[in-house]
Amino acid sequence: MSRTQVAIIGAGPAGLMLAHLLQRAGIESVIVESRARDYVESRVRAGVLEYDTAELLNDLGVGERMRRESLVHRGIALRFNDRSNRIDFPDLTGGKTVTVYGQQEVVKDLIAARLATGAPILFECAATAIDAGDEPSITYRDAAGGEHTLDADFIAGCDGFHGAAREAIPPDAITVYDHTLPFAWLGILAETPPVSEELIYVNHERGFALVSMRSRTISRLYIQCRNDERLELWPDERIWGELRERLGSDRGGPDVHSGKILQKGVTPMRSFVCDPMRYGRLFLAGDSAHIVPPTGAKGMNLAIADVRVLAEALEAYYEHGETALLDAYSQTCLRRVWKTQRFSIYMTRMLHRFEEHTPFDRRIQLAELDYVTSSRTAAASLAENYVGLPFESTAGLRKVRT
Ligand code: FAD
Ligand code: DHB
Repeated sequence: MSRTQVAIIGAGPAGLMLAHLLQRAGIESVIVESRARDYVESRVRAGVLEYDTAELLNDLGVGERMRRESLVHRGIALRFNDRSNRIDFPDLTGGKTVTVYGQQEVVKDLIAARLATGAPILFECAATAIDAGDEPSITYRDAAGGEHTLDADFIAGCDGFHGAAREAIPPDAITVYDHTLPFAWLGILAETPPVSEELIYVNHERGFALVSMRSRTISRLYIQCRNDERLELWPDERIWGELRERLGSDRGGPDVHSGKILQKGVTPMRSFVCDPMRYGRLFLAGDSAHIVPPTGAKGMNLAIADVRVLAEALEAYYEHGETALLDAYSQTCLRRVWKTQRFSIYMTRMLHRFEEHTPFDRRIQLAELDYVTSSRTAAASLAENYVGLPFESTAGLRKVRT
C-alpha cells in the first residue's frame, strides 16, 4: 500500500466524499485519518444538508439510511420582536428543500460504504509531512509510532482547519483572508423533542438563538455567547433559562422543555479563506481551505461542493489527460466559497447581537429582518442560498470531444 493515485488526508465529509466520487470514476485512493473510527463517527457538528448534497448521497447509493432517518424541511422561521416569520423553501425555490441529518451520520454512512468495498481508510494515522512536488508523497505516523510513506499522483488535503496540508504550503504561495467575529455559539445536544417542526433562527436583544434537531426526540440548540466563554459558567438550568428567554416562551413563543443534555460545546465563529486552494500537486478541500461562520449551516455543504469539483477535474485528467479543470480548481471553488462567505456573514450580521451596535445599527438590523420576511424577492434570495446555490459550470473548460 505504498503507492496510490490520490492520497487523501482526513476522513471528514470532504475526504470521504472525494474517495467515493473517485471510486465511482475508477480512480484509486487511500485515506489517512489521524483519529480513531469511533471518534470520527461521534463528533457532533453540522446538521443541515443542502438539496444537492442530499441528492449526491442518493446518487452515490449511500443515502438509504438518510432517506429513512432524516427529516426533510420545507422552510425555516426567522424570529424577531417575539414573532416567528416563515420562509417557505419549495415555494421560493421551485420545489427545493433541505435535509436535517447529522454530519456524523453522513460520516458513518460514507465510512461503512467505503469499507464494504474493501477500499482503505487508515485510522489513527496522522500525516506528518507532505511533498507536493513532481513526485508527491505523504509521510504518516501510525498508532504504534511507526512512520510510513505513501506515494501518489496527487494529494488531497481534506484534513480540516487544524490539519497538516495547508501548513505544508509556503506562506508566500498563498493569500489568507481571515475575519474573526466577536462572539461564539454555545451548542447543546439534548434529549428533548424539537420545539417546532422547523428550525427557528432567533434575533433577540440578549443575543442569537437557534433551535434545531437531530430527530423527533433529540434537539440541537445554540445560543450566542462570549468568544472566551467558559462552559463551567453555564450549568444546564442557565442554558434552558436563556433559551426560553430568547425564544419568548413566556410571551407566547415556543416552549422549550429541558431534557438530559448529552453534549455541550462552544463553537468559535470565524471566516477564513486560503487562496489559491492548490500548491503543486496538493489540492485543499473543505475546512482546510476555508471556514464560514455557522449561521446558515454551510460548512459541510461547502466541503462537499469542493470535492465535487476536484473529483470532476481528476476524472478529466485520468480519462483524457486534460489538466484544464485541475488548473481551474481553485478559481472554480473560490467563486462558490466567496458567495457562501457572503451569505454566512449576511445571516450572522442579521441575527446576532453586536456589542458595538448603536441604537441606529439595531434599527437597521430589525429593518433588514422585516424586509427579508415581507418581500418575496428578498425572501427568495435567502431561500436560494439556504437550499444551496447551483454548482459552478465547468463546461467551458472542457475540450470539445467528438
Ligand atoms: P473535518 O470534518 O474537520 O475533517 C477533517 C478530518 O481530518 C478530521 O477527521 C481530522 O481528524 C482529520 N485530520 C486532521 N489532521 C490530520 C492529519 N494531520 N492527518 C490525518 N488526518 C487528519 N458547520 C455547520 O454547517 N453547522 C454547524 O453547526 C457546525 N458546527 C461545527 C462545530 C465545530 C466544533 C466545528 C469544528 C465545525 C462545525 N461546523 C459546522 C463546520 C463543519 O462541521 C465543517 O465545515 C465540516 O466538518 C468540514 O468538513 P471537512 O471534511 O472539510 O473537515
Ligand atoms: C444546525 C447548525 C447550523 O449552523 C445551522 O445554521 C442550522 C442547524 C444544526 O446543527 O442542526
